[in-house]
Amino acid sequence: MSWQASHGRHDLPWQHSRDPYRVWLSEIMLQQTQVDTVMPYYGRFLARFPTLADLAAAPQEDVLALWSGLGYYARARNLHKAAQVVMEEHGGIFPRTAAAIAALPGIGRSTAAAIAAFCFDERAAILDGNVKRVLCRAFGIEGFPGSRAVEQTLWALATELLPERDPGRYIQAQMDLGATVCTRSKPACTRCPLAADCVARRDGRCAELPTPRPR
Ligand code: ADE
Repeated sequence: MSWQASHGRHDLPWQHSRDPYRVWLSEIMLQQTQVDTVMPYYGRFLARFPTLADLAAAPQEDVLALWSGLGYYARARNLHKAAQVVMEEHGGIFPRTAAAIAALPGIGRSTAAAIAAFCFDERAAILDGNVKRVLCRAFGIEGFPGSRAVEQTLWALATELLPERDPGRYIQAQMDLGATVCTRSKPACTRCPLAADCVARRDGRCAELPTPRPR
C-alpha cells in the first residue's frame, strides 16, 4: 500500500470519484480493454450519460453507438440493462454491498468487489488476471489459475490478505502492481515491493508462473 502511494497510478479519471456509477463504468470498460484505449470512451460516455438515470432512460442503440470500437458489446448491453434494474428494483440507488452489486447483470464477483471497496470501503477481495499473476508468483502457487481448484485457493488467499483499513488502496495497489511491475513477460522485479518475499523470484520461476492453461 505504501508502494501504491508513491509508485501507483493516481491520475486516472475514475480514481477521483466515489460515485459507484462512474467506478462501475470504468471497471466494465477496463475488463478487456487497456487504460489508454478506454480514456476517450469513458469521457464521451459520461458526457452523454452523466448519471445512471440518464443511461437507464437512453435507447439501446445510443448506448451501443458510444461503445462502438471498444468491442465486447455484451458489456454495453449488460451495462444498460443493469442501469434499468437499479432504477426499477433499487429505486435508483446503486446497491452498496459487493453481494448485491454482483447480482446485477454483467457484474462478476471481482468487479462487484472493486466497486464496493472503492466506493464503500468494503473489505472485498478482487481476483482478475493481474491479481492472479501477482499471487501465483509471490506465493509460488502451482496449477492453471483458471481451474476451479486453483481459483478457490486464490480467492481464499486474496480474502485473507485484505487489510483492515483502506481496502480501496490495497486493491488499487494489486491492480497497479500487476499492470506496471509484475507483468506477464519480463516483470520488473528490481522495482517490485514484494521482491524480497517472492517465491517465483527466489526460485527463478517468474517465466513459469502462473502455470499456463493445460493443452
Ligand atoms: N483495470 C481495472 N480496474 C482498474 C483500475 N481501477 N485502475 C487501473 N486499471 C484498472
